Amino acid sequence: PSAHLTIDPHFVTGRIQRRLFGGFVEHLGRHVYDGIYEPGHEAADAEGFRRDVIDLVRELGVSTIRYPGGNFVSGFRWEDSVGPREQRPRRLDLAWHSTETNEVGLHEFASWLDKVGSDLMMAVNLGTRGTLEALDLLEYANIRGGTALSERRRENGRDEPFGVEMWCLGNEMDGPWQLGHRSADDYGKVASQAAKAMRQMDPDVTLVVCGSSSRHMPTFGEWERVVLGHTYDDVDYISCHAYYEEKDGDLDSFLASAVDMDRFIESVVATADHVGAVRGSTKKIDLSFDEWNVWYLDRFRDVDKISGIDNWPIAPRLLENVYSVVDAVVFGNLLISLIKHADRVTSASLAQLVNVIAPIMTEPGGPAWRQTTFYPFSITSRLAQGDALELKLDAPSYRTALYGEVPLVDAVATHESETGRSAVFLVNRSTTEAITVTVDIAGLGDVGVCEAHTLSDDDVYAVNTLADPERVTVRDNDTVALEGGLLTVTLPPVSWSAIALG
Ligand code: AHR
Repeated sequence: PSAHLTIDPHFVTGRIQRRLFGGFVEHLGRHVYDGIYEPGHEAADAEGFRRDVIDLVRELGVSTIRYPGGNFVSGFRWEDSVGPREQRPRRLDLAWHSTETNEVGLHEFASWLDKVGSDLMMAVNLGTRGTLEALDLLEYANIRGGTALSERRRENGRDEPFGVEMWCLGNEMDGPWQLGHRSADDYGKVASQAAKAMRQMDPDVTLVVCGSSSRHMPTFGEWERVVLGHTYDDVDYISCHAYYEEKDGDLDSFLASAVDMDRFIESVVATADHVGAVRGSTKKIDLSFDEWNVWYLDRFRDVDKISGIDNWPIAPRLLENVYSVVDAVVFGNLLISLIKHADRVTSASLAQLVNVIAPIMTEPGGPAWRQTTFYPFSITSRLAQGDALELKLDAPSYRTALYGEVPLVDAVATHESETGRSAVFLVNRSTTEAITVTVDIAGLGDVGVCEAHTLSDDDVYAVNTLADPERVTVRDNDTVALEGGLLTVTLPPVSWSAIALG
C-alpha cells in the first residue's frame, strides 16, 4: 500500500508553544524518592538528585513540569513541604496509600527544575482545601517580600520569588476517586472564586481549570460546559486527561488511540466555544492536555492496591509500566495529535517522567535507562519547531472496533520560517504491511533531508528493561529519497518516524 501527503508552509494551523512538550512529576511511588532523588546513589549531587536522571530529563526536552500531583495534590498541605527538613512532618498520602516524608518539597523541586532547565507548573489543592490555602501558597511563591509568607520563603533560603506563572485549580475534580470530588456545579463555583482571588493577588498568573479526566467519563461534555459556565472569564485553560492501553488483544483499535485524542480535543474546543458563544465573548479558552500517555491501568489495578491501616510504605513501586514498541508508536501518534491541534492545545504534560508511567526508569543504587517512549518524545520535542501545518493526506484505511474506519497512516508537519527547517512525523498503524509514503514538499523550496528516524521492531512487544536497557532504540530510516520536490519513505508495519528537512 501507499499514501500521499502534501506539505505547504502556507497552511498554518498554529504556532507550536514550547509548553506543548511539558512533563509531570507527582509525589507517587518511586517518582521523587528513589527516582529523581536518591541521596545515597553514586550519581547523586550535593542535594541528593541523581545526575544521570537529570541528564536524561534534559535529553528528553521537557518544558514546563506540572507538580506535585495528580491525585496527590488533593490531600497536599504545601506548608509541610517547606522549612527545615528535620521539622517537616510525615503525612499519610491517601491517594496512593503511602507515606510522604516531605524530604523533597517546593524549594528542592525548584532547584531540581533549574538543573533540568524546566519551568514549574503548580497545582493547588481544591479537593480538601480551598481559596485561602491557594492564596497562601501563591503569596509564598510569588510575592517578593514584606509579608508573613513571602518572608517565610526568604527565611527558608529563597530570596527571589519562585515566580510561578502557570497554576492548576485542583486535579481531576470530576473523578469519584478524587479526594474532595465535586459536581461540576460545585467545583465550578469553587474554581471561579479561587481563580478570582489568585488574580487579585497576582494578575499575571495563567490559570487552568479542571476538565474531564477522560473523554469516557459519564459527565464528559456536560462537565466542561457547566465548569466553564462558572469560570469562563476567570481562567485561561481547561484541562484534558487521557490514557490509552491495548484492551482484550484489540491491537487495531489501540493503534488508533490518537483518533480518540483528536475527537476529545475537538469536542472540548467545541464545548468551550459554545460557552463563549452563549456569553457573547470574544475570548477563547485554550486546552492544557496536562495528563496524557499510554498506561496499562487495567493490568495494574490489582497489583497497585496497597491496603491496611498499618501499611503506608514510602516510595513503593507503583504504576511502573514497561513500554513496548507498539506503546511507543501509539505514544508518538498522540504527540502528532497534540501538534495537529497546536492552535488550541497550547500546553500539555506527559504523565509522568520517572519510574511512574514514565519514559525514564531507574533502579535504586543502579542505572537509569530510556523506555521505548523516550524516543518519540525527545525527537519530537527537538524537531517540532515553529508552526504546525495542516496536511493534505491520502491514505488507505482500516476498520477498528472502537473508532470505526480510520486511516492507516497519520502524520503532521511543522515548519519554522525563520530557519527554513521543517519536520514531518508519521505513523504506520498497519500490523502487517509496510506503507510507502510520497510527500510533496515542493512548497518548502530547495531543502534536503537532515535526519530520518524510525522506531519499529519485528517484535512489536519488545521492551527496554534493567537487564536489556537498549533492546529498542530508533534507527536511521535509509529508505528516504528526495527527488524533484518529492520525498518518499517506507514506513514498516507498526512504526513511528520523524524526518527533518532543511
Ligand atoms: O498520572 C497518574 C494519575 O492519573 C494522576 O495522579 C491522576 O491525576 C490521574 O488519574
